Amino acid sequence: MVIAAVLLVIVLGSVVFHLATPWWTTPLASNWKTMDDTLTITVVITGVFFVAINLFVAYAVWRYRHRAGHRAAYEPENHRLERWLIGITTIGIVGLLAPGLVVYADYVRPPRDALQLEVVGYQWQWRFRLPGPTGELGGTDVRFISPTNPLGLDPSDPEGRDNLVIDGGEVYLPVNRPVKVTMRSVDVLHDFFAPQFRARMNLVPGQVSSFWFTPTQTGRFEAMCAQLCGLGHSAMRAHVVVVEEAEFLAWRDKLPTFASTQAPMAVTGGDPVALGRALAQSKGCVACHSSDGSTSVGPTWKGLYGKTETLKDGRRLRVDEQFLRDFIRDPKAMSIQGFPPVMPRIELSEDELDALVAHIKSLATP
Ligand code: CUA
Repeated sequence: MVIAAVLLVIVLGSVVFHLATPWWTTPLASNWKTMDDTLTITVVITGVFFVAINLFVAYAVWRYRHRAGHRAAYEPENHRLERWLIGITTIGIVGLLAPGLVVYADYVRPPRDALQLEVVGYQWQWRFRLPGPTGELGGTDVRFISPTNPLGLDPSDPEGRDNLVIDGGEVYLPVNRPVKVTMRSVDVLHDFFAPQFRARMNLVPGQVSSFWFTPTQTGRFEAMCAQLCGLGHSAMRAHVVVVEEAEFLAWRDKLPTFASTQAPMAVTGGDPVALGRALAQSKGCVACHSSDGSTSVGPTWKGLYGKTETLKDGRRLRVDEQFLRDFIRDPKAMSIQGFPPVMPRIELSEDELDALVAHIKSLATP
């Protein structure tokens, strides 16, 4: 009796909790309403089975409870009942799987006029690439990946020269325009996921995966990595900013082309701050140090200059030019409280070190 009552409470509680819960999905901001529909179908089917099976068990526990003078009957076969159960279960499973197949087929077949966006994941940041005026992305190969060519674009492919390379984890997209997203990983398994778009997919090393979506709402949407990929996994975030077409084009016009990133000195015209910014990207510093105050594996560079840091041995040091130069030259010599000692030594010339320090200094809060 007690068990039957507990089962009834669990069933009732689950249904009430489902209806009253504040934990619903985020508001939809893409064309993928069908994703929500399949989720609803799944919840309804599994919910009906959950309620029906538990109520049946509660009923059976109560109806066939132990009573003096009653004997249990043994019934090894019941073909009619088996056919019913197999039939109902089959319908339930088809209902769970079939809609997903239809939605998935659509999900990986982008419209012809879709804008191309490449998402590249690496421990623990995102990079993006957009095509230039021709609308085509140039070829890539892991052989070409180097500190100055982190996306591994083929330098001999003319299609790639005008490709726009985006560092820093923020990409703009025009509203109401389909986007074909292709994904690559430089190191381990990652997963690009922006909840409001209901779109996500794994980035598998050695493969190019893809899906498409149409952003239908303007706004700034957070995307995150949804595969545990190491120490900095939780910091592996990016933002997709959906804007009107004109604003998108204005933003895109300011991006550096692949060709220009291959000659940072020439592009930056000798300005040390600009060179430092280019180096921070090409040398991979931005993987762990943000420039916008957001937390990552290492301290953000925004406002770092002039701050006082506490070393593990208790000493307190002001972050000035000398401190930065010493630390970058030999990161293992000091360890700072609050940060894991994981910074690698990076080969830099004296001029490059000056430029990098100048860049960090330029991010000091006034
Ligand atoms: Cu990349 Cu988790």
